[in-house]
Amino acid sequence: MDFDKFEDKLQLVRRSIKEALDGSPERLYDASLHLTSAGGKRIRPLLCLLSCEAVGGSIDDALKTAVAIELIHTFTLIHDDIMDKDELRRNVPSVHVVYGEPTAILAGDLLFSKAFEISRKETIKILAKAAAEICEGQEMDMSFEEAGDVTEKEYLEMIRKKTAVLLQAATESGAILGGGSDQSDHSSQVKKLSDYGLNIGMAFQIHDDVLDLLADEKKLGKPVGSDIVEGKRSLVVINALENLVGAEKEKVQRILCKEDNSPEEIALVVRLFEESGAITYCRDKAEHFINLAKSALDDLEESEAKNDLMDIAEYIIDRKE
Ligand code: IPE
Ligand code: IPE
Ligand code: MG
Ligand code: MG
Ligand code: MG
Repeated sequence: MDFDKFEDKLQLVRRSIKEALDGSPERLYDASLHLTSAGGKRIRPLLCLLSCEAVGGSIDDALKTAVAIELIHTFTLIHDDIMDKDELRRNVPSVHVVYGEPTAILAGDLLFSKAFEISRKETIKILAKAAAEICEGQEMDMSFEEAGDVTEKEYLEMIRKKTAVLLQAATESGAILGGGSDQSDHSSQVKKLSDYGLNIGMAFQIHDDVLDLLADEKKLGKPVGSDIVEGKRSLVVINALENLVGAEKEKVQRILCKEDNSPEEIALVVRLFEESGAITYCRDKAEHFINLAKSALDDLEESEAKNDLMDIAEYIIDRKE
């Protein structure tokens, strides 16, 4: 998908992020801007702005909240890389690698606080709820590393919290700020866009878990195979362990439990995942959520923004980065 057509919107977002992060000590603010300077897709603020336009609003109505959501996202990335022990993000060394863990923790906290300072007040509670759920989801993600038998249902609840709720907050907030029809009505514009955001969010993380295994590291900008090293219980793992038997299953279990995996071990696990059908299973699952997302928008009034949201839904499961 060609993001060039969104360049005006993305430029506004980038400029507003820089404006929000101007202060001292300089080193702390530099750390908080480190990932923003390196890039990122900025899909969440884009979703917020397009959802606002899709209900007839103008992007000025949603810009502050869109930026706040990207700040919350950036905060989660900085802390996530500490928790996941990942040293590369957006093709640059992670914040804690460059600035050390203490400053990286503070840079995350700063981004988190600034988000609530700049958000439009109508959407503060939505952002606060999403941020709390991300913490819950991240704790579940880590606790699953030690748990032997995680079910698909538990995985889906974990990714809903750690990832999908923020995309949902983006589309729901955008719709509210754009003056979308009443939230309490189940067929309202706000509800449709909220459901769309939730479902693309689910697909987003399932696809991210596949990318972690199969992507080109340069394109992805983060370490490939990291979830295997960390022993993450992704849907690929859950499904593969259901399908594999005997020596192959034991090999996968042993490598997932062990740290410092060699490139050969990672390649072996990826091959076994592919042969077990788990990758295909996950691609189908992601597609299922994308279909739900698109049907949530079915009878939303036609607009350019709606078409863009439909295209973004496809992009979520096609992307290589
Ligand atoms: C990465 O999100 C974190 C996940 C929820 C998988 P993105 O893939 O949106 O990361 P950037 O912002 O484009 O770097
Ligand atoms: C994404 O989980 C969830 C959050 C960052 C909140 P991952 O740990 O899979 O994200 P990446 O792959 O490091 O971007
Ligand atoms: Mg991570
Ligand atoms: Mg993580
Ligand atoms: Mg990942």
